[in-house]
Amino acid sequence: MARDFTSVGVVGLGTMGAGIVEVFARNGVDVVAVEVSEDALERGRAILTGSTDRAVAKGKLAEADRDALLSRVRFAVGLDALHAVDLVIEAVPEHLDLKQRIFAELDRVCKPEAILATNTSSLSVTEISVATSRPNQVIGIHFFNPAPVMKLVEVVRTVVTSADVVADVEALCKRLGKVDVTISDRAGFIANALLFGYLNHAVGMFETHYATREDIDAAMKLGCGLPMGPLALMDLIGLDTAYEILDTMYRRGGRDRRHAPVPLIKQMVTAGLLGRKSGRGFYTYERPGSPVVVPDEQTPVAAEAALAGAAAIAKVGIVGSGTMATGIIEVFAKAGYEVVSVTRGAEKSAKVFEVVKTSLNKGVVRGKLSEADRDAALGRINWSATLEHLADVDLVVEAVVEELSVKKALFASLDEICKPGVVLATTTSSLPVIDVAMATQRPADVIGLHFFNPAPLMPLVEVVETIRTSAETTATARAVCTALGKTGVVCGDRSGFIVNALLFPYLNDAVKMLEASYSTADDIDHAMKLGCGYPMGPFELLDVVGLDVSLAIQRELYLELREPGFAPAPLLEHLVTAGYLGRKSGRGFRDHTRR
Ligand SMILES: NC(=O)c1ccc[n+]([C@@H]2O[C@H](COP(=O)([O-])OP(=O)(O)OC[C@H]3O[C@@H](n4cnc5c(N)ncnc54)[C@H](O)[C@@H]3O)[C@@H](O)[C@H]2O)c1
Repeated sequence: MARDFTSVGVVGLGTMGAGIVEVFARNGVDVVAVEVSEDALERGRAILTGSTDRAVAKGKLAEADRDALLSRVRFAVGLDALHAVDLVIEAVPEHLDLKQRIFAELDRVCKPEAILATNTSSLSVTEISVATSRPNQVIGIHFFNPAPVMKLVEVVRTVVTSADVVADVEALCKRLGKVDVTISDRAGFIANALLFGYLNHAVGMFETHYATREDIDAAMKLGCGLPMGPLALMDLIGLDTAYEILDTMYRRGGRDRRHAPVPLIKQMVTAGLLGRKSGRGFYTYERPGSPVVVPDEQTPVAAEAALAGAAAIAKVGIVGSGTMATGIIEVFAKAGYEVVSVTRGAEKSAKVFEVVKTSLNKGVVRGKLSEADRDAALGRINWSATLEHLADVDLVVEAVVEELSVKKALFASLDEICKPGVVLATTTSSLPVIDVAMATQRPADVIGLHFFNPAPLMPLVEVVETIRTSAETTATARAVCTALGKTGVVCGDRSGFIVNALLFPYLNDAVKMLEASYSTADDIDHAMKLGCGYPMGPFELLDVVGLDVSLAIQRELYLELREPGFAPAPLLEHLVTAGYLGRKSGRGFRDHTRR
């Protein structure tokens, strides 16, 4: 007969444990909440009351329901209080020896039929289970942070977990309103195996001053639609916990260097900068446990001061007639700049004009733009088929074909034609900006402006500085982004800049996970959407972006950084060879010809 969990125990009331207590108590289950000391118990109680009070204040929980929820929780110091519960979930720090000790003790204290579960993110559930005399009743129940909010639970069965235990825990997850994916015992399971390499890489970018914390986080939020940036997420997870997870994944997951914790993490942990829970991590918080970020010495100076030294830009030349050039022409014209569009002929110009007009008309139909503003925007665009017309512009944005020889030749011509002091920008997404800059006699004035597609909609622009770019050029580029209503993030001139360098290895890892038959495309997509709040799962996104494009970017990253973990997944290569390119070819990871 299926187990009917009427009371559960939670061990450890930190970031995760306190949230897990709330999940059960909210769903009518009695909880015995256990800590190691009276002080820790008080902290755990404060996390729970803080969270439920916030829910009441936001109108998400009635006061009476909060009181009923809290009345279901009994707090205690020591594991002896767990003798009568049906299930225990352990959420103590991520150390194998500590968890094994606790499981041995739970085995002694708990009734024989009780299920013992760990919330570990990276340790072996199997190794934890063998500390008990009932490994068949030991299972992983991996909640996501914050537990009351995130829908996903990864249920981890070992080779000895009984099938009925798995089935009962799956039914329990449903009862808690969660979506579960059941998987076997591998380091990082699904979500963390895909997440932590990315987080570590982002910390590495910050450590090497590749970009600021604000810019790294803004890039991933605005460029990929993620609910939070990687450094803010590290603060939420807790740097001590993140360190232990990375360290374990490195040792258990084949010593992939991408999981070797970036040294800065250990230094911050040693210095007590643990993230939100200690009030300071990558960011500074109002007080320990608070989600409210307050300014500190790294907070960027006020917008006006940051833009000091920016040159005034009134007239902008845009070279190219493809998707990006067309979108960028619209963006500049709408923002009030005088635009000179240079294409390779009147026919191309006519086409671009039509696309820009159609797009602006859509804005009018949707009520976002008046007819007068549309006409004014179109009136600001001058159409030309010769670069000579760029002689008096203040900024040139190049968006021609992604071929270095073509771009270099174009920049050499711009160098001849444009007046001194003009900012020359390339929209390249994969070529080194410095190569383009060195085709001119004025590399200090050359910069990357990496717009995202579709340019009129996407709020992010990566501003790519080379080692020769002047501070004035960067300030001007930033000011232009602001004037366009975009967020400009400044980064160094490395393959993939911020967004693609962090995004594509993660997508490639998902393909490798599928290739290894660890899980299905559906479950992996689910895990990232429901566990991490991503707007799309990796396979959905790969099919949208195009597998050929993804493979090309991944190859570039691999070639530049020579990181073995970046080697393109063979399955990705095979799918591209087979012509399965994603939505555009009707089939990629999924078949898009049938609905
Ligand atoms: N932080 C996350 O985002 C996250 C997400 C999912 C899973 N996890 C996993 O959850 C577990 C807990 O992580 P956390 O981030 O909540 O850690 P935490 O440091 O915030 O909390 C751990 C709690 O365990 C208590 N504790 C320590 N020894 C104990 C003992 N002997 N008996 C009872 N309580 C004890 C501590 O006092 C502390 O309150 C780890 O296995 C971690 O990998 C963490």
